Amino acid sequence: MILVCGGAGYIGSHMVRYLREKNKEVLVVDNLRTGHRESVPEDVPLYVGDVRDMSFLKRVFSNNQIDGVIHFCAHSLVAESMEDPLRYYDNNVGGAISLLSVMRDFKVPNIIFSSTAATYGEPKTVPITEDLETVPTNPYGETKLAMEKMFKWADVAYGIHYVALRYFNVAGAYKTGKIGEDHNPETHLIPLLLQVPLGKRKEAYIFGTDYPTSDGTCVRDYIHVMDIVDAHVKALDYLEKGNPSNTFNLGTGQGFSVKEIVDMTGQVTGKPLPTILKERRAGDPAVLVADNKKAKEMLGWEPKHSNIEKMIASAWLWHKNHSEGYYEQEEILCSFKWKRRQTENL
Ligand code: UFG
Repeated sequence: MILVCGGAGYIGSHMVRYLREKNKEVLVVDNLRTGHRESVPEDVPLYVGDVRDMSFLKRVFSNNQIDGVIHFCAHSLVAESMEDPLRYYDNNVGGAISLLSVMRDFKVPNIIFSSTAATYGEPKTVPITEDLETVPTNPYGETKLAMEKMFKWADVAYGIHYVALRYFNVAGAYKTGKIGEDHNPETHLIPLLLQVPLGKRKEAYIFGTDYPTSDGTCVRDYIHVMDIVDAHVKALDYLEKGNPSNTFNLGTGQGFSVKEIVDMTGQVTGKPLPTILKERRAGDPAVLVADNKKAKEMLGWEPKHSNIEKMIASAWLWHKNHSEGYYEQEEILCSFKWKRRQTENL
């Protein structure tokens, strides 16, 4: 049985679907502060609670035979972390402490967890290899780096093996368009751009046009959420085969500027997006592009959805049918007094 912590969030909910497609037994822990109950399939047990609550976690581990953990629970907004760093340390590092403690007590051997390109800060060279210096420029990246280091020492002391996956810019949605990205507030580029054709915003904003890039806007490596979750399955296999703990970049290795993404979003949705040029956003590195050779070679992972137009189209399929995200669905369910999915009781 695989425990997915944060399985009701954007990446976590895609992870759960993917594991179910592969007929793996899954259970979800989520505090539903940013996750959505409706994103978890009916046949997957959902325990509502916080990973920092050790007695809650112990009850989950006592009631289930957990063989491995995939850990997505974290606050992940750079700007918010600059304003309230302690909240980030509390949730991200604090959550990992209690999770690792319970894994140690219940002798669960393997964990895969979300790290980030933000651990590198402003990289000295691109594409970024895993051995590049890690100098985060914000508390979010610092907390993820602190987690990586804590996992390393927990491995040494308790023998809990881990794989840290450093995501670049995750985008796209599940093939059916039934689940997707729903953050409140939304800060990510592609979902914000898609709010323009949805009529929720008049213009797209471009933050910074004086970066040292070909068109002056930031360059990012966009990676499809289904390629991300596929890497987690491969990382779990890697540990289950007895390989040592490790860290891998997850990106396509290809960079696109903000302007290019704006243009392509216009093409995908059928109408050019009006744009407003803004000042740089604080803390944004100019270029973040992954060197993904290590994950390809050691995990046998290959991104299969790298085509950027298709990636945007996959996000569009979700957003155009769920312009209010899961909220709409929750409202409909409530107003019709339909039975909502059950949560597990402990
Ligand atoms: N951007 C705009 N306009 C917008 C929103 C974003 O121009 O309306 C720009 C940003 O300034 C940035 C790029 O689009 O240059 C991508 O921004 P996102 O907010 O979509 O993503 P980030 O690169 O800031 O963040 C992502 C992850 C973080 C992670 C970070 C690593 O979401 O969790 O990569 O650098 F920390």
